[in-house]
Amino acid sequence: MKGIVLAGGTGSRLFPLTNVTNKHLLPVGDMPMIYYPIKKLIGVGMEEILIVTGTNHMGDVVSLLGSGKDFGCRFTYKVQDEAGGIAQALGLAENFAGGDPVAVILGDNIFKMGLQQAVANYPGSGSQIMVKQVHDPDRYGVAEMDGDQIVSIEEKPSKPKSDYAVTGIYFYDAEVFDIIKTLKPSGRGELEITDVNNEYIRRQQMVYSVMDGWWTDAGTLESLRVANELATADPSDF
Ligand code: DAU
Repeated sequence: MKGIVLAGGTGSRLFPLTNVTNKHLLPVGDMPMIYYPIKKLIGVGMEEILIVTGTNHMGDVVSLLGSGKDFGCRFTYKVQDEAGGIAQALGLAENFAGGDPVAVILGDNIFKMGLQQAVANYPGSGSQIMVKQVHDPDRYGVAEMDGDQIVSIEEKPSKPKSDYAVTGIYFYDAEVFDIIKTLKPSGRGELEITDVNNEYIRRQQMVYSVMDGWWTDAGTLESLRVANELATADPSDF
């Protein structure tokens, strides 16, 4: 399985912190934010990792990460010309994936647990998401579950059907790229990963697991502060 870190987007919710740098280069604990998803992938033995980021700060991202030699992996880089959504960024990975399944992590997702169990649970085809109980589900994709089945996912619903957020850790087979090609931009003008996930649900090709340990994104001032506190008080497992 190959790994993908999506580190594009504008980081506008963090302005002015992100006026002249990429959100994923900001510090979390004692490391740049992007180290966390990368180290999670390396922790489960992934040697081929694609980094997708925007045009503005690709140079800085490459300066920081290099070839992967210092991490014990090989990085490939892809430019996302505009922040057209998570699914659009993932669509750029088709050649990189080369027909293999992929583990995808959003570059601003910071969490405690290593991915060993998640990789073991992924059946090798179809898709897998990780969900986490949160107090503010309306900020996220929200999963409605029935026993061991996911029934639907709603993106930032005003009336969430559960308090389980869909975290930014996803496993997909190569079908994902055909699904992405069928997507239309959402109301916010993006190709939504939630639309990809709902198509896998429709095909009955999605499994989920509940994430252990703490999890947060770091895309707002408040969640960046929380990520720093958590990563310092209870360091992440890799
Ligand atoms: O953190 C989990 C949540 O992430 C999920 O619950 C949601 O379903 C999912 O849509 C996403 O929500 P956000 O609105 O928080 O996503 P955001 O726009 O902040 O983007 C998250 C990361 O995805 C960002 O750190 C980099 C990457 N990204 C995002 C966009 C819009 C890209 O690589 N390219 C993009 O165009």
